[in-house]
Order: sequence, then structure tokens, then C-alpha cells
Amino acid sequence: MAPQHGGPLRTVLVGAHGHGRGHLERLAELHGEGRLRFTGVADPRPLDAEQRALAGDAAYGPDAVALIEATRPDLVVLVTPVHTHVALAEAAMRSGAHLLLEKPPAPTLDGLDRLLRVQRETGRTVQVGFQAFGSGAVTELRRRIADGVLGEIHAIGGTGLWWRGEAYWSRAGWAGRRELGGTPVNDGALTNPFAHAVALALRLDGSGGGESVRRVELDTYRTRAAEAHDTASARILTARGTTATIATTLCAEHESDPVVTVYGSRDSAELYYTEDRLVTAAGETRHGRADLLDNLLDHLADPAVELLVPLADTLGFTQIAEAVRLSPPPLTVAQDELTDLGEITRRAAATGRLYSETGAPWARAEPFTWTPEESA
Ligand SMILES: NC(=O)c1ccc[n+]([C@@H]2O[C@H](COP(=O)([O-])OP(=O)(O)OC[C@H]3O[C@@H](n4cnc5c(N)ncnc54)[C@H](O)[C@@H]3O)[C@@H](O)[C@H]2O)c1
Repeated sequence: MAPQHGGPLRTVLVGAHGHGRGHLERLAELHGEGRLRFTGVADPRPLDAEQRALAGDAAYGPDAVALIEATRPDLVVLVTPVHTHVALAEAAMRSGAHLLLEKPPAPTLDGLDRLLRVQRETGRTVQVGFQAFGSGAVTELRRRIADGVLGEIHAIGGTGLWWRGEAYWSRAGWAGRRELGGTPVNDGALTNPFAHAVALALRLDGSGGGESVRRVELDTYRTRAAEAHDTASARILTARGTTATIATTLCAEHESDPVVTVYGSRDSAELYYTEDRLVTAAGETRHGRADLLDNLLDHLADPAVELLVPLADTLGFTQIAEAVRLSPPPLTVAQDELTDLGEITRRAAATGRLYSETGAPWARAEPFTWTPEESA
């Protein structure tokens, strides 16, 4: 897998504003350390002075495919709007590049299938940007589950209580959209900001995310987003037969850190995944985090190093996203109707209920059910 030219991998960043800015800083750092050669940045929006300084001698171009074709990088870091992932990732792989692809990998199951097919044809490596998978807290929790410390796992719950105001929803045309001009976007609380909680629940269940889930039930609500849900719950019957219930909102006036809780017959464990913090009856432990780009570089240099988030392991997550995509439009709710959001969200996740089953007066959406057979 080492580049034929030898030396550090020539790396191009696609998407440099928004979340891409953090990747730009990281690439500049790794370039400085000689871990990779930062050779290009593509974004239709020109770079500002700070970004240009970080990019150093890297070539800039507004057209990602043209830049990739011209520079033939070994590695592409792709941080563009969700609905552009599949075409750009395919172009990058076909030009010979490995990928760090931001999450969600694709807005549809068809999109993921296509990426997996291109990956098989090209033999490229794709790491997906679920950065919490690199958390030492996740590794430690998986070890405790495997060692039986929690006993028999009977359920998993996840909560997300964030506030996202006007600036978030108006930052880009795709924000809060289910589709744009007929192209699926599938943005929303469950499918984007809290995608980490959904994907982690599947990983902690032990199926690794690459096995098909058995069923997804969900209900979705819209308060601020243009079209997509900003509040939603999903109850997933996992490949292993565990029930994982994730309740999330971007309309929480009182925010709290997202948490995934694993309920076992002996103990339960709370994973505060944005903080690499694990809380059980025995107390709290704090952990470090492996960086996904570092891990990808290490894996490419030595395949014995396990890749943290292989594309194939995002199947389960993408099935949940597919269920969201196929579900009816979210029920519109006014912000002032969303009373007791924290309590209701925690209760839904802890008791395996959808919002619509909690008795909350605003939560009157008809639940939607999806099974993998429907997309077979
Ligand atoms: N891992 C995380 O925690 C995390 C956090 C935030 C966003 N993300 C992901 O990062 C991606 C980008 O999200 P965002 O919120 O930064 O979006 P954004 O719309 O704010 O920024 C996207 C950037 O991509 C550029 N762009 C658009 N089309 C392009 C193209 N064809 N070629 C090159 N550049 C193009 C835009 O000009 C913009 O600079 C999404 O996949 C999102 O889900 C991940």
C-alpha cells in the first residue's frame, strides 16, 4: 500500500471551510512533521489568508476533480457537503487515492453500495470520520463488555441534547435539507450531528457496524430546520438482537453532553463520547483518543495496524440514515411546545421508547418502520 514514488503520502484536502478548517490545520501539522506531503486544497470558495498560510505550498483549485486529476494524490481528505461525498469519493478512488471520508459516508444506502463497489474495484482504503471510534473510552468499554463486566447486555440508549441556532441552519444551502433539486442530502440530528451516537451504539453492540440491522423504527420532528428533522428518536433492533434507542434534538435550550449508555445485567456504563469519558458504578475514567488520520497513515504503512473506521463498518449506520430518508416529512412543532425536552429525551433512551411513546404532548408523529428487506 506504500506509494510507488516512496516518501510521505501526497495528500489533498477537499472542502476547506466549515469542518474542513480543522482538517486543514491537522494536515499542516502532519506536513510539518513530515508524516505526509500536503500537496493540494480544493474548494469552490477561495481560501482566506489564514487558510492560505496553513496550506503553504499546496496547490489550490476550485474544482476538486480537476485538482485530483492534475495532482494524482495518494490520499484525499474529503470534507464536503454530504450529498457530494459519493461522486467525489469515487473520483478520488478511481484516480488512485485512499480516503479519509467525513461522516456520514453517503446520504443513501445505494450511495454506500456504490462506494463499496468502487472500493473493491480499486483496492483503496477508506476511513470514515467517526472520530469517537478512536476514543480510548470506547476501547475500554468494549473490553469491559467483552469481559462480561457489565453482564448480559440487554439494551443501549443514546441521547443528544444540543442547541443549533440560525447560524448553523443558514451556513450552507444543504443544511437542514432532505434533498436538493432531487438529490438526497439526508441532513438532520440523527443522520449528521448525532450520527456518532447512532454509529457508536451499533459498534458497542458488538456487531461492529458492518452487519445488517434487523429493524429501525423512528419518529421525526422539525422546529428550526428548513425541511429535515432537528428532533428525532430511533429504536433499532441490531444484528445481535439488542434494542438501541437514540433520542436526539438540536432544539435543547439546556444543552448537555451526548451520551451512549450500555445497560447490562450487572452494571451499566455511560459513554460521554465527545469527552472520552466513561462512567460506571465503579466511578469515572478519562481516556485519550487516537486521531483518524494518524491511524489511516499508520494502517497504510503497515496493514497490521487495524483501521479504526473502515467504510464497510458503516453499513448499520447508513441503514438508519436510509430509514430516515425514506420516512415521511418530519412533524412540524413550535419551539415553545418542546417542554421538558431533557427529561423526555433521557426517558425515551433509557426505556426504549420513541418520543411518540413517551406521552409528551408535542410528540405526535406517526412512527415509521424500516427493515433491510425493503431495500433488498
Ligand atoms: N466528524 C465530525 O464531527 C463532523 C463535524 C462537522 C461536519 N462533519 C462533516 O463534514 C462535512 C462538511 O460539513 P460542513 O458542516 O463543514 O459543511 P459546510 O457546507 O459548512 O462546508 C463544506 C465545505 O466544502 C466546500 N465544498 C462544497 N462542494 C465542494 C466540492 N464539490 N469540492 C470541494 N469543496 C466543496 C464548501 O465550499 C465548504 O467550504 C460533512 O460531511 C459533515 O457531515 C463532520
